[in-house]
Amino acid sequence: MSDTDDAVLEITGGTKLSGHVSVSGAKNSALVVMAGTLLCSQPCRLRNIPHLMDIERMGEVLLALGVKLKRDGDALDVNASSIAHTKAPYDVVSRLRASFFVIGPLLARMGVARVPLPGGCAIGARPVELHVRGLQAMGADVHIEHGTVHAYVPGSGKRLKGARIYLDYPSVGATETLMMAATLADGETVIENAAQEPEVVDLANFCRAMGARIRGAGTNTITIAGVPRLHTTDYGIIPDRIEAGTFLVAGAITRSEISLSPVLPEHLTAVIAKLHDMGGQVVVDGPSRVRYVPGSVIHPVDIQTGPFPGFPTDMQAQFMALMALCDGNSLITETVFENRLRHVAELNRMGADIRLNGNCAVIKGVPQLSAAPVLATDLRASAALVLAALAAQGTTTIQGLQHLDRGYDDLEGKLRRLGANIRRQVGDSAIAAAPLTESLLNSR
Ligand code: EPZ
Repeated sequence: MSDTDDAVLEITGGTKLSGHVSVSGAKNSALVVMAGTLLCSQPCRLRNIPHLMDIERMGEVLLALGVKLKRDGDALDVNASSIAHTKAPYDVVSRLRASFFVIGPLLARMGVARVPLPGGCAIGARPVELHVRGLQAMGADVHIEHGTVHAYVPGSGKRLKGARIYLDYPSVGATETLMMAATLADGETVIENAAQEPEVVDLANFCRAMGARIRGAGTNTITIAGVPRLHTTDYGIIPDRIEAGTFLVAGAITRSEISLSPVLPEHLTAVIAKLHDMGGQVVVDGPSRVRYVPGSVIHPVDIQTGPFPGFPTDMQAQFMALMALCDGNSLITETVFENRLRHVAELNRMGADIRLNGNCAVIKGVPQLSAAPVLATDLRASAALVLAALAAQGTTTIQGLQHLDRGYDDLEGKLRRLGANIRRQVGDSAIAAAPLTESLLNSR
């Protein structure tokens, strides 16, 4: 077992937070931009790359393809000048769904790609038919055999063809796969009903920095005029809006004033609006600096997740933890993933009063949460449990830290520097700290 497997977080709730937190680079930009470096036959430098398990795993995928990587603090030097293999190995891909992002760049650059199908995960089946159908529209022959997607560009040219593609759903991943593939295609590609997330815009800006010709990123129609090749760039990715949102909720749930930077408020419009509706204030202190100021009461609100600029599904679990302490009833409707409400059971173990009805959760506010041994089920659920523990009476132990470590760069260190009473126990001391773990695990 790795350290993370038998580690637990111990959080003693009730302390106020104060101070400033530095927000890391966006996980969901870094992962796709790393895949995008495969489009370029010259070395690239990526900056503001967070230190996360998922980033390590994406690095393993690129190394397996013959890419050279060098970490330099928050920067990552990538040299994809010679791609030795066009088959992504199953053992690496199976540990990171985002590995699937290599299929578009490999196909566009090499004319062939074999990538194992990403499995489902805790939050849903996560199909990729929109990616596949889009690549087929661009002239690729794509078929699935023994769990692997085999894609190649028929004919001698090995270049994809520009196409007009309508996405049945504004899928972030499919938009990113097809936008990357189109940068080197022969002709113009138009992606309609495209995702508008900031990470899609960041990827487009990265590709444009390499010489790609992309218009409309951030709207529902993206136009890409293919070019024969791309060139080197030194590119810094955007700050992580979900990490920032998570810390804003940490301020709200502990009734604390904290500041964060760098933050791009325009990436958090829906989240900021809901925090205002709940009685808090998010003050913009500068071009990329915000401050959370608590109100006297936490008011209930209703939230429906949806594609950007709607309320982000990646902030749903964190808001549920906050709603558990509102002075009234709140409603959450999760419309993006089919199984992203598994944190309800764990929050109820901490004294929350939440009832599930299909993809809706009704959260009846309670005056106080109480510490309990809990188990994280997915990345954002683990963040929600940390937030709940910051406000709960007593000491909560959280297992399943492998989820947290995938997507948050030193969350506990950042919270500790804000004054939170939080520590990670590893090994025997961890088991001792969570005596109920066995029965807890068996009770599921
Ligand atoms: C990206 O996942 C993010 N991951 C997710 O963040 C985020 O929750 C999601 O976008 C929505 O914003 C990365 O960027 C690495 P989708 P992605 O394709 O691309 C369905 C986190 O916590 N769909 O927009 O997989 C799909 O099943 C993670 O950081 C199809 O049906 O999201 C889902 O129900 C979790 N067919 C919905 O669309 C397809 O071909 C949204 O998926 C593709 C998607």
